[in-house]
Formats: sequence, structure tokens, C-alpha cells
Amino acid sequence: MAHPADPLTGLPHEERIRSRKLAGGVATIIADATGLAKVDSEALERELREAALALPGVEEARVAMTASQRHRTLIAIGSGKGGVGKSTVTANLAVALARAGRKVGVIDADVYGPSQPTLLGKHDKPEAADDKLLPVEAHGVKFLSLGQLVSPGHALAWRGPMATGALANLVEAEWGDTDLLLADLPPGTGDVQLSLIQRSRPAGAVIVSTPQDLSLIDARRAIDLFNKMSVPVLGVIENMATYVCPHCGEASHPFGTGGAEAAAREMEVPFLGRLPLSLTIREQSDAGVPPAASAGPEAKAFAEIAARLLEALETPVH
Ligand SMILES: Nc1ncnc2c1ncn2[C@@H]1O[C@H](COP(=O)(O)OP(=O)(O)OP(=O)(O)O)[C@@H](O)[C@H]1O
Ligand SMILES: [Mg+2]
Repeated sequence: MAHPADPLTGLPHEERIRSRKLAGGVATIIADATGLAKVDSEALERELREAALALPGVEEARVAMTASQRHRTLIAIGSGKGGVGKSTVTANLAVALARAGRKVGVIDADVYGPSQPTLLGKHDKPEAADDKLLPVEAHGVKFLSLGQLVSPGHALAWRGPMATGALANLVEAEWGDTDLLLADLPPGTGDVQLSLIQRSRPAGAVIVSTPQDLSLIDARRAIDLFNKMSVPVLGVIENMATYVCPHCGEASHPFGTGGAEAAAREMEVPFLGRLPLSLTIREQSDAGVPPAASAGPEAKAFAEIAARLLEALETPVH
């Protein structure tokens, strides 16, 4: 008889084994398949069964893979107003988080105006396996967008259930070992946002706003929506704040400055940081080279915001 304290020693992939038991010649092993693609999970299951059967005293081996309990954090990036730079911030924040060592994915949830393929500089069509879309990778970030699924330039005239159904396919895609998933929302507080919140329960939301009052009024509306739906607002990012003239170096504030920080304080949500109105950000974004992937001052600004976001994620919500 095998030693009762440790009947099944020497199995491979110790780190994935959650429990093991040998009784009456039957080995029962439970392993964690978190983050594994279906084919890898099946391979692991086979390998464990064969290894167990090779051990003395094992006549039969039963291996159960736990339902892939992915500890994936979905973060919605929203704004009240359009054109404040949500998509640009999402792409660059994703790159900055990946540079900080996280496994990051981006969902382009702006089904009416997808822009992530342009921002991340990749227009490949995603393939599918087992009825699930396989995200495309660029700049160390996985992403999926409806922009990859329709021909470029074709306006999406989808409304209501078609749009929300398409979005669900992106969220439920094969994200593998991705642990942080950023969803770039369309502007405002409409159907797509509600459907994402209700179906996918984001762990938190980030609001992007420019500093001027009109944008801030809408940002408050977006914060209200997330609060009402019990999605913690992880913070506010102020975009297009300071403008440094490339010729004379003088700093000016075309949309004002500090407004988003004040609004965040007033609404008791963290302020995650400020991004300058920068020609580099605009030009590199249009060219599909996220400035967060470079070594310039913009990359530093995004890295700082990424670090604060990670801090906010670790702070328990009250
Ligand atoms: N900090 C910045 N400096 C300079 N240009 C910027 C900055 N942030 C965004 N932009 C530019 O502003 C335009 C709008 O940005 P973006 O598409 O990211 O906004 P959005 O909020 O996602 O818009 P929409 O509401 O249409 O989805 C783009 O041309 C982008 O390059
Ligand atoms: Mg956008």
C-alpha cells in the first residue's frame, strides 16, 4: 500500500495540482486549468493521467480539470463626452500595463466607431477556434475589435441587440492568460455601456475627461452611471491638459487645467493623472505606434498612470 500521507508523489505540473487522492487503486487528481487554452488543458489532463497510471499502486486514474476560473479583471474605460481621447488612452494604458509586466488585453467596445486597430497599428482579422475568437497581438497587447471583422471604412450601422451581441463575442473570446482586460467604451451612457456592465460586470471603471467644464459635466454623468450600477470608479484621467509649444517651449492650457482633478476630488474618486495635449501623441497614435511603447516623456506619463491604476485596483472599495 502507498504511504497514506503522500500517495501520489512525482506527478508533473505540481503547481497546477489542487488535490490528489489514492483509494482502492483509484487515483483522483484535481488540477487547475486557469489560463490554459482548451488544447493545452486537454494535454495536461492526459499527461497527468499517464503519469498517475505509471505510479505503483495506481490501477485507474481520474483527472478532473477545474472549470477555468480565470482571475481576469475587466476595466471599462469610459467618458461622458466623445472625442476626449478614451481610445488613445486605452491603447496606451494597455501598452504601459504590459510594460509593467501584466498580461493585458483590449476590447474595442466602441462598436459604432472602432479605433483600436488603427491605434495599435494592426488590421489583421482574428481567427476563431472552438467557436471563440482568438485575439490579435500588437505591442505586447492582445486585442479584439469589430473593426477587424468588417472591411475597413465600412460604417457599422448596427444598433441594439446586434451591437451588444457582437460585443459579447469580443468579451467572451479566448483571452488565454490575459489578467487585465481594458474595454474601450463608446462615448456616453447608452445601450452598449449598459449591456457591458450588466453582462460582464467590470471590476472597475476609469473615466477620461478633458479639463473643460462641458467635458466634466459629462464625466460626472458617466461616474454617476457606474456608481448606480455598483461598478467602482477606479479613477479619472485628465487628457489634453497642458500644451507645450514645440517651437518656443511655452506651456499653455487650451482647455484649462486641473478641472478633472478637482471634479475627481469632489466626487471622491481617485485622480490617476494628467496627459499633455501633445503632437507626438496625436501623430504616433494615427501612425499605429502607441507613444507608451517608446522612451519619451509621453511613455513616462502613461507608465505613471498605469502604476496608479494598479494601486487603485488593489485598494479595497468601501
Ligand atoms: N493627449 C493628446 N494629445 C493630442 N492628441 C490627442 C490626445 N489624446 C487624444 N488625441 C487625439 O484626439 C483625437 C480623439 O481621440 P480618441 O479617438 O482617442 O478619442 P475618443 O474619446 O475615443 O473618441 P470617441 O468618443 O469618438 O470614441 C484623436 O485624433 C487622437 O489622436
Ligand atoms: Mg473612441
